[in-house]
Amino acid sequence: MSTDVINSGRRKFLTAATSAVGVAGVVGIAVPFVGSWNPSAKAKAAGAPVKADVSKLEPGQMVVVEWRGKPVYVVNRTDAQLAELPNLDGLLKDPDSLVSEQPEYIKGVDRSIKPNLLVIVGLCTHLGCAPKFRPEVGAADLGGKDWQGGFFCPCHGSKFDLSGRVYSGVPASANLVVPPYTFEGDDVLVIGVDWEAA
Ligand code: FES
Repeated sequence: MSTDVINSGRRKFLTAATSAVGVAGVVGIAVPFVGSWNPSAKAKAAGAPVKADVSKLEPGQMVVVEWRGKPVYVVNRTDAQLAELPNLDGLLKDPDSLVSEQPEYIKGVDRSIKPNLLVIVGLCTHLGCAPKFRPEVGAADLGGKDWQGGFFCPCHGSKFDLSGRVYSGVPASANLVVPPYTFEGDDVLVIGVDWEAA
């Protein structure tokens, strides 16, 4: 599926009519927007957590989960994509996320609990547009050889790597925000609840 489809899907916010205790299933890239469970309107306003089964998310794919009215991007990064992250540090404003918002338990260049699984709020830290997922290595319009895949904000041109770390020389000044999240078992992502180390 093309990234255009992914990004047009992002705007649709499908909400699946799952049961009150149900968990939304991620059905590959064919369903780029994952309907979360359906908490009550009151609970939703209070920021109830949402769950998504990420067991079928293939390497290199992204899905979007709605949490507190915001799109949360969930990307299953490949090992090759992870290996490139440290090589980008010199091109970034805040490579170690010293000034960018993320839970204290999120550390390192992968900015994640499970190294491959990136979970970030899909709102640009400049003025809040939704960046596009652009995983193509070497994309000519995004810097050519220096582009190892990431996110591009079409509003004013900010660029972020596949950890949501912002590039130098763009309007955004901070990395994309990592929300609080944890897991139930191996495959159920829970957004809105802090992870606790075992
Ligand atoms: S809102 Fe993303 S670059 Fe301005």
